[in-house]
Amino acid sequence: MARLTWHGHSCFTLVTDTGGRILIDPWLDDNPVADIRSSDIKELDLILVSHGHHDHFADAIKLAKSTGATLVSTFEIVSFAQSKGVQSAHPLHIGGGYRFPLGYVKMTPALHGGQVAGDEEGVYTTQAGGWWLDLGGKRVYHAGDTALLLEMQLLRGKVDVALLPIGDNFTMGPEDAAQAVELIQPRVVIPMHYNTFDVIKQDPEAFARLVGDRAEVVILKPGESYEF
Ligand code: NI
Ligand code: MN
Repeated sequence: MARLTWHGHSCFTLVTDTGGRILIDPWLDDNPVADIRSSDIKELDLILVSHGHHDHFADAIKLAKSTGATLVSTFEIVSFAQSKGVQSAHPLHIGGGYRFPLGYVKMTPALHGGQVAGDEEGVYTTQAGGWWLDLGGKRVYHAGDTALLLEMQLLRGKVDVALLPIGDNFTMGPEDAAQAVELIQPRVVIPMHYNTFDVIKQDPEAFARLVGDRAEVVILKPGESYEF
């Protein structure tokens, strides 16, 4: 069984069938809804960062150093992390993927801002992305922060579990996210990037009603897991 655990906002731990450990969009230590702190994470193979905003990148450098995990992100974010002393890192870019020992990791398009938190000069400003993972035939899509994109239909038939933002304001809201489900046709969808702060307050049950029978909607609380 693979296990996805939500830590609130867009942060998930994914443990593969073979015990590989992936952390996506690490924001724990000053995340008001997180169930754990970065110091609780000891073993990690990969850290995936969809984009450089603080709420997706905050603990990535710290955790790459403390666990020795490989930080995977755009070339610019990886370069920034290396300039801050991260030893193990792997640059990718939108549309490109790489076969790591625990599975295939591909960066998908997202339409969103590209500032990198901590980069005072703006030298490392980059593109925002998302993730498509094939972990021994189990396929996961983490959309990152994005608007609804027609490109999402290219993932149709290729996603078992989709992690989609529903918070509105900075990303898709519930209606656009439900339309994304229509485009992608995943088996399961797990909403994220909502109820962390007031401007992205949403009712996930209302999102589930919008999705209807197009996919199974699994609503997690921070700390809860979904196995597949
Ligand atoms: Ni963002
Ligand atoms: Mn965000």
